[in-house]
Amino acid sequence: MTADNRKWRRALVAGGASGIGAATAARLAASGADVLIADVDATNGRRLATEIGASFIALDLTDHAAVAAAFGHLGPFDILVNSAGADQHAFFTQTEPNDWARLIALNLGAVLNATHAVLPGMQQARYGRIVNVASEAGRLGSRGGSVYAAAKGAVIAFTRSLARENGRMGITANVVAPGPIDTPMLRRAVESGGEKLMAAMTAATLVGRLGTPQEVAAVIAFLASDDAGYVTGEVLGVSGGMGCGA
Ligand SMILES: NC(=O)c1ccc[n+]([C@@H]2O[C@H](COP(=O)([O-])OP(=O)(O)OC[C@H]3O[C@@H](n4cnc5c(N)ncnc54)[C@H](O)[C@@H]3O)[C@@H](O)[C@H]2O)c1
Repeated sequence: MTADNRKWRRALVAGGASGIGAATAARLAASGADVLIADVDATNGRRLATEIGASFIALDLTDHAAVAAAFGHLGPFDILVNSAGADQHAFFTQTEPNDWARLIALNLGAVLNATHAVLPGMQQARYGRIVNVASEAGRLGSRGGSVYAAAKGAVIAFTRSLARENGRMGITANVVAPGPIDTPMLRRAVESGGEKLMAAMTAATLVGRLGTPQEVAAVIAFLASDDAGYVTGEVLGVSGGMGCGA
């Protein structure tokens, strides 16, 4: 049986306990994949895994040694979705090096850690689908989210580099760039930035509304499928047109 007609897949959803990652884990599990959710949030992660018939591992994805040990042991995986992330709303001069280190360790470092642990198994199998969740902020910049945007821009450049290095090994690497999606992360931002922020985010889209985690998960599931075998190194906005022209 060749890689292309295998129906059964092992998928790792890093940051899969909430929001976009949770919707992706549910979608992949419903399509028959054997899903492992890795997340620092054990309560929601375990609950979701039970609900959708997935497995769960409690893990701080910024901890390189812990990630290497866990995924080295639990792999190999056919699909890797990196969805863990968080932002911080403050203008750059109001932030400190500690904030930068934290934002970069999570939004970029966690992606590097998981990919470093999982990619050798994909290379050996000569098959892989990597989908990294960046943000339109990584293409357009973000007022009040400069370091987050910088980390997401780095995820885009990193993913394109993975696509270049691994294309001939049957491995694709793509980015989804969400706009404002109705998740706990967005609700936390609205709590700190108020209704004005919500109105500004909605107005920045062409469709005039927030997206749902399921709408992002559908695009991730496509990029993770065999059907997307000729799509690599791409950044696909799932942002109601916010990134139109980027
Ligand atoms: N919601 C949006 O509007 C939006 C927009 C653009 C990009 N994104 C990106 O989408 C991704 C998912 O965000 P979301 O909105 O679903 O947020 P969310 O807060 O609902 O989910 C993020 C998940 O990451 C996990 N996580 C955080 N730090 C972790 C760590 N150190 N180790 C392991 N897990 C950790 C959290 O526990 C949580 O389950 C993020 O990368 C985010 O930057 C979200």
